[in-house]
Amino acid sequence: MKSRVVGAAPHAATDQQSSARAVREMFTSIAPRYDLLNHVLSCNIDRLWWWRTARQFDHILKHRNARVLDLCCGTGDMTFALGRRVGEGAAQILGADFSHAMLQRAAVKGRGTTLRWIEADALRLPFPDGHFNLVTSAFGFRNLADYDAGLREIARVLAPGGECGILDFGEPGGLIGHAYRVYFKRVLPAIGTLLSGVRGPYAYLPASVERFPSPDEMLGRMHQAGFREVSWTPYTFGIAGLYRGVRLNF
Ligand SMILES: C[S@@+](CC[C@H](N)C(=O)[O-])C[C@H]1O[C@@H](n2cnc3c(N)ncnc32)[C@H](O)[C@@H]1O
Repeated sequence: MKSRVVGAAPHAATDQQSSARAVREMFTSIAPRYDLLNHVLSCNIDRLWWWRTARQFDHILKHRNARVLDLCCGTGDMTFALGRRVGEGAAQILGADFSHAMLQRAAVKGRGTTLRWIEADALRLPFPDGHFNLVTSAFGFRNLADYDAGLREIARVLAPGGECGILDFGEPGGLIGHAYRVYFKRVLPAIGTLLSGVRGPYAYLPASVERFPSPDEMLGRMHQAGFREVSWTPYTFGIAGLYRGVRLNF
């Protein structure tokens, strides 16, 4: 059984501050090749996962005045998937990330859209309480230095009855899980290091997934942070999965 982890702990990080700094530097270093690597290493399945996640929230996205925050948006692919589901003048969608280099790429890709971008730390969001109707995060939440603080901050900026969707990697079981682990722990770090030219981030990825709470534990933590109707839906044999929750009405 895994012990209860506070949050991400990249190699050499000694406390939450150094962990957050290491994560930001890591993503900044791979920003130029991030999209290419994502698509190559996931065989383009990442696009399906973003699409599946976005369509779960159509009931909010189609609302004229809905406010949507995509946390840890990186180069923006989850944000774009959300944007494709809203009509003209419908939900306002904002992507937030603390890596300037990742956000810059999102902004270039998003030219001509109504999406907006902000440089912000997911653990200290510059928004008032109850501001958003939906907060999503794809493959970013796992990198936070404090998962419970991250969930509480998401709950804080959500309006009562607002929803949260966290898409992240999982650890599939059985034979598929065995084959996948060989790929994820050996092949992926080797290709990632070769293509990005940066040693480290692609070894950190499987280590961070291994460290991440199990679905049952995550759902318990979401409950504790003030979410109800919490659920986890596995995608592609559990290689990824979507956590959902509704912010409690106080
Ligand atoms: C794996 S990328 C995911 C990007 C994008 N959501 C996607 O699906 O491709 C993780 C992102 O989370 C961001 N991130 C990690 N910790 C963060 C924090 N505390 N605040 C804001 N962004 C953070 C990183 O800068 C990085 O861009």
